[in-house]
Amino acid sequence: MLKRQFRAGVAGIGSAVPDRVMTNDDWAKLVDTSDEWIRARTGIAERRLCDDSTAASDLAYAAAQKALKQSGVAPAEIELIIVATTTPDYPVFPSTAALLQEKLGCARAGGFDLSAACSGFGYAFYTAAQFIENGECQKVLLICADTLSKNMDYTDRNVCVLFGDGAGAMVLARAAGAGGHLASVLGLRGSGAADLIVKTGGSREPLTAGNIQSRDKYIYMNGKSVFKFAVQIMGEATEQVLKKAGLKPEDIDLFVPHQANTRIIDAAMKRLSLPPEKVVVNIQKYGNTSSASIPLALDEACQDGRLQKGMLVAACGFGAGLSWAANLFRWGL
Ligand code: UT7
Repeated sequence: MLKRQFRAGVAGIGSAVPDRVMTNDDWAKLVDTSDEWIRARTGIAERRLCDDSTAASDLAYAAAQKALKQSGVAPAEIELIIVATTTPDYPVFPSTAALLQEKLGCARAGGFDLSAACSGFGYAFYTAAQFIENGECQKVLLICADTLSKNMDYTDRNVCVLFGDGAGAMVLARAAGAGGHLASVLGLRGSGAADLIVKTGGSREPLTAGNIQSRDKYIYMNGKSVFKFAVQIMGEATEQVLKKAGLKPEDIDLFVPHQANTRIIDAAMKRLSLPPEKVVVNIQKYGNTSSASIPLALDEACQDGRLQKGMLVAACGFGAGLSWAANLFRWGL
């Protein structure tokens, strides 16, 4: 168990997705694919994609406003804003957190962006919890927002059909009741960095007149390698975080996996012997929304009543890096 002065619990949650729905049939008009293939291989039926004028901070703002409202916490009470994103509004600076601090009116908050790709929620949640557990902060706003549609090659069927845009936000606060963070585990396997990568546009290969037309500015993914890694790590990391808290898979009330592929989720369910009613799956509606997928799923479960105060939640994400994160917490404060 963690050594901590205080406990960090979820005071409120919110999410936001763009209005524009892109179905599998819509994709089949653009690339050589089919509704049947996408559903069978991934579980995705449709996803939401931003229009040109919407950036990550716009979705983040909408999600954060809902989380703040649900928590009853005023923006001025927020001491820290952590934004998990790999698609910030601006490629270098300012941070998305800075834009949101101003827009939300979090007058006394510090903040930063955190880059952990599809594992972003787990990294941000663990980080936010630390600030509360060590007594540094009482109220932290964590937001996961990604617009991977902006980095997609619309002609690459291996990638474009998989991703959607979205944001999820949570207010974490000092917990006094049954709720709160119990344990987290984080991991990296940099040997797989090239399996999920955007090669140009960073300091290694800045965009130039010479490479601007190249597809290297889009997401490249070795789907098979990432799939193998994901199937192994989702079960393994969840077992590790349970062990860290002295708990067992059968103690989990709700498992909230990163929504990348139903076949990956099925493999984890089997390994952990979890029945379908304990697992949140909404990939069919949103595709893979990267860092936002876990809070989007949590928010849905909260809204439809599946998630109740005091329930033991296990969340597990994985993605580029390669990276992973698993968190265990009891819902509420
Ligand atoms: O959150 C980030 C982490 N990302 C992931 O977790 C993704 C992990 N990987 C996966 O989910 C799966 O590997 C994919 C869904 C990406 C691909 O499924 P797969 O069963 O591994 O398919 P594959 O890559 O082995 O491709 C099988 C066939 C290939 O054709 P050939 O070479 O057998 O003729 C592909 O070209 O399916 C083809 N294919 C498609 N066909 C129709 C690939 N994409 C498509 C498509 N529509 N969209």
